[in-house]
Amino acid sequence: MKKEEKEVEKKYDFLAELYHNLRTKKFPGGWFYNEMLEMPAALELLGKVKDKKILDFGCGTGIYAKLLTKKGAKVKGFDISKEMIKIAKEENPKLDLKIGSGYKIPFKEKFDIVIATLVIDYFKDWNAVFREVKKVLKNNGFFIFSIGNPVSECIEKVIHNGEKLRVLGKKDYFNEKKIYGIWNVDGKKKIRMPTHHKTYETIIKTIVKNGFEIVDYKDCFPLKKSKKLFPKDYAIYSKIPYFCVWKIKKK
Ligand SMILES: C[S@@+](CC[C@H](N)C(=O)[O-])C[C@H]1O[C@@H](n2cnc3c(N)ncnc32)[C@H](O)[C@@H]1O
Repeated sequence: MKKEEKEVEKKYDFLAELYHNLRTKKFPGGWFYNEMLEMPAALELLGKVKDKKILDFGCGTGIYAKLLTKKGAKVKGFDISKEMIKIAKEENPKLDLKIGSGYKIPFKEKFDIVIATLVIDYFKDWNAVFREVKKVLKNNGFFIFSIGNPVSECIEKVIHNGEKLRVLGKKDYFNEKKIYGIWNVDGKKKIRMPTHHKTYETIIKTIVKNGFEIVDYKDCFPLKKSKKLFPKDYAIYSKIPYFCVWKIKKK
């Protein structure tokens, strides 16, 4: 396992139970960032999945795996964190879910679709990831991945003349480096989560260079019902694009 993966694995091992409970038990109707913001867009790009063979890359606690199985897909998955996989298996006892790295996908067979929701940002070398995904995709198969919006993730809050502003600040958009997001988990724990920032230019060139074609894209917009459930988050993320979803096809 690479050093960059060890850091992430450790954080998700520590967070696993809290993360899953936040998304399922504390907010049974769904958590803002995933169920209200990212998932609706990703599910729209996934479309009909009945009888499709889907690989859930970085499956976390198996929330997508469970939902897609219910919709009739044949799902397998893997994740770097043993604690996330432990919960994923408890939640999906019949599914083949493994501990493994996206730099060396632990499956040899071919899939119709690979999904990687809010995972790819953790990788420094996207070329290596795209090469791995290509190996397990059928020809004309789809790779659907969601990431942080490359521009928004560089926005910082500043106070200028007493006024609160959001500007492109120290996290320089053109500087493709590791950035730390502060996760204020459950209002108590603050976790510094590392991701690897890429520009739109790099992302698009990586897709094309690795033999994929862009077939769709979505800026995630919060579900209407989240306005009542999470009013502060809705107010911000109905104005600032926080996540985006890409649908690309293996040529
Ligand atoms: C934000 S969670 C998303 C989980 C799941 N995809 C979902 O949407 O519910 C990110 C997941 O990516 C996994 N991950 C991060 N780096 C990884 C790597 N190098 N290989 C495989 N999984 C990784 C983490 O362990 C974590 O479970």
